[in-house]
Amino acid sequence: MAEQDRKQHWERVYEEKAPDEVSWFQSVPEVSLDLIERHLPDREAPLIDVGAGASTLVDHLLARGYRNLTVLDIAARALAEARTRLGERADAVDWVEGDITCCELPGRYALWHDRAVFHFLTEPADRAAYVERLRRHLRPGGVVVIAAFSPEGPTMCSGLPIVQYDAERLAGELGEGFRHLESRQEAHRTPAGKIQQFGYHAFRRES
Ligand SMILES: C[S@@+](CC[C@H](N)C(=O)[O-])C[C@H]1O[C@@H](n2cnc3c(N)ncnc32)[C@H](O)[C@@H]1O
Repeated sequence: MAEQDRKQHWERVYEEKAPDEVSWFQSVPEVSLDLIERHLPDREAPLIDVGAGASTLVDHLLARGYRNLTVLDIAARALAEARTRLGERADAVDWVEGDITCCELPGRYALWHDRAVFHFLTEPADRAAYVERLRRHLRPGGVVVIAAFSPEGPTMCSGLPIVQYDAERLAGELGEGFRHLESRQEAHRTPAGKIQQFGYHAFRRES
């Protein structure tokens, strides 16, 4: 999908639905929080949530004392929803509007979190561009957590085709230099009551 079409799609999604109506909504992103606290105990270390949308993850990370947070999304509207919800607390966060396959990132991170974003990249060139940014912006020794629909999960999300992943397939996409740490499964219940099988996969970038 071309960059402009992708942006239009996501801006429209957040125009038409409230943040707690989208199928991926979680009031408490428990698996993400657990993996982040386990693999990034240092509250000062820089963390990026890639394709965060209007996710509540940033609220919970701030509440747990994380102080060096970057939130990125292609949809300006999603970021605006999160900022409004956070009020003054939003000032402590770096907000980046951009397409992860082609935008500039402002820093280097100790943890890179992505829930349900990489799985939309159905073109090998887009995946290569994503991984190239990941390699450039994840510190050696840093951790990447990617959550995607698992092979038992849906084949579409938000009306778009996705690629299902297990740890092995994801490791193949990341390439050399990433060591698998752990995987978790989650049966996510959408606001409409459907169950979607997610896999969360954590890898450490070897120094
Ligand atoms: C299924 S939602 C998941 C949102 C959030 N990670 C969560 O778990 O609540 C996918 C998000 O990725 C964003 N997105 C899709 N493609 C993107 C891209 N190429 N670069 C940056 N963000 C993207 C969308 O705007 C949307 O907010």
